[in-house]
Amino acid sequence: MSRAADLSARKSRAVARGVATRGIFAARAENAEIWDADGRRFLDFAAGIAVTNTGHRHPRVMAAVAAQAEAFTHTCFHVAPYEGYVRLAERLNALTPGDFAKKTMLVTTGAEAVENAVKMARAFTGRSGVIAFSGGFHGRTLLGMALTGKVAPYKKGFGAMPPEVHHAPFPNAFHDMPEAVALTELERLLAASVDPERIAAIIIEPVQGEGGFTIAPAGFLRALRTLCDRHGIVLIGDEVQAGMARTGRMFGFEHAGVAPDLVTMAKGLAGGFPLSAVTGRAEIVDAPAPGGLGGTYAGHPLAVAAAHAVLDVIAAEELCARADEIGIRIRDRLTAIAARPGMDCIGEVRGLGAMNAIELVTDRATNAPDAALTARLVAEAEARGLIILSCGTRYNVIRLLPPLTIPMDQLDEALDILDASLEAVAAQAAAA
Ligand SMILES: Cc1ncc(COP(=O)(O)O)c(C=O)c1O
Repeated sequence: MSRAADLSARKSRAVARGVATRGIFAARAENAEIWDADGRRFLDFAAGIAVTNTGHRHPRVMAAVAAQAEAFTHTCFHVAPYEGYVRLAERLNALTPGDFAKKTMLVTTGAEAVENAVKMARAFTGRSGVIAFSGGFHGRTLLGMALTGKVAPYKKGFGAMPPEVHHAPFPNAFHDMPEAVALTELERLLAASVDPERIAAIIIEPVQGEGGFTIAPAGFLRALRTLCDRHGIVLIGDEVQAGMARTGRMFGFEHAGVAPDLVTMAKGLAGGFPLSAVTGRAEIVDAPAPGGLGGTYAGHPLAVAAAHAVLDVIAAEELCARADEIGIRIRDRLTAIAARPGMDCIGEVRGLGAMNAIELVTDRATNAPDAALTARLVAEAEARGLIILSCGTRYNVIRLLPPLTIPMDQLDEALDILDASLEAVAAQAAAA
C-alpha cells in the first residue's frame, strides 16, 4: 500500500468527514512544487487555495519567520503588543484603496476578518442587516456561512442562519444575469423586502472565488458604491481570495477604481501563515468599544513577520506585473485549446491577472454545466502531476491559481499537463 493510501485510510478513521480532502498527502513543498508522502512531484496550481502567492517557503518569508521565532512567538497582542503588528497596520492602511484616514485590525482567518468587518459596520451604523450575493463565499463560521450564497455543502444541515442576512443576484453574463438586471434586483430587494435603513453593510468579492471565478463588472461595483453612499451603508470588499496581487493589482477593487469602506484580507497576506486583516475608514474601524475586537492569537507574531516579508516580496519581485504576465500566458493557451475541434466542453475562459478559470459545459449550444467532466479533469491532471481545483456554484469551473513566483518553464509544463488532461477527458466523453 502506498503511504498516501495508508494515510487516507487513517484520515477517514480519525478525522471528521466534514473536513473534505483529496488524496495528496504533502511531505515537502518549494515555490510551485509539492512532493507527496510517496515522493511524487506535483506542480501546484492551487497555492493552498490562493495563499502561497509568493510560493511555498519563499526564502525571505522563511527568514523573517525564523528571526521572529528567535525573539518571541506569542505574547497576545492584548497583553504585550509588538511593533510588527502596528507597522503592518500602517502598511495596510497605506496600501488599501481609498484616500482617507484608515485603521486596521488583525485576526487569523478569512472568516474572522469577515465577521469583524460586519461587527464594525453594525457598531458604526447602529443597524444589523447585511446584504451579500448569490454564489459568494465568506467562510464557514456561523455568520460567514449565512453570508455565503451557496447552500450545499456550506449551509446544509446547520440549522437556523443568523437573521437579517439577505442575498441579491451576482451579475454573471455567462449565466443570464446581466449587470443591469442584477442591479434592478438589488434595488427591488431594498424596495420590497428590507428597508435600506436597516442595512449596515453590503459585502461583495471583486472576483468571486469559490463561486466560480466570476468577475464583478466595474460598473456594478461603482453602482454599489453610489447605492451605499446614498443609504449610509458600509461597503465591504472581501479581498480574501482576490487580494494580495493575485488579479494583477494589489486589490481586486482597484480594477473598478472603487474604494470599499472596509477591506477584508487573508490568504495571500502572510504567504502560508494564518493571518487576516480588516482595514478601512478609521471612524468605522473604531466604532466598536475597546475590548470588543481581538482574540488570543489575533495578529500572531510569526504570521505578522511573514506578512511583512510577503509585502516586501510583492514589491521587490513586481508580482502584480508578474500576475498579469502569467494570466496572459494562461488565457492565451486556454483560448487556443478551446478553439480546437472536440473542445466544445470549454464554455468560457475567463480571468483577471493570475486568477483564471475555465467553465466546463456539456456543449456550447446549451452551456449546461458539466460537473462530472470537471471532477474527471481534476483527477486526470492530478494523475499527471498537476494540482488544480474546481469551484463554482454548479461545480463545473476549474480555477488556476499558480504561485505568482512560478518559473515560466514550470508554468508551461503545467499548461502542457492541463492541455493533455483536457484532451484525455474530452476524448473519453466523446467516446462514451
Ligand atoms: C472571498 C473569501 N472570503 C472568506 C473566506 C474564508 O476564509 P477562511 O477559509 O480563511 O476562513 C474565503 C475562503 O476561501 C474566501 O475566498
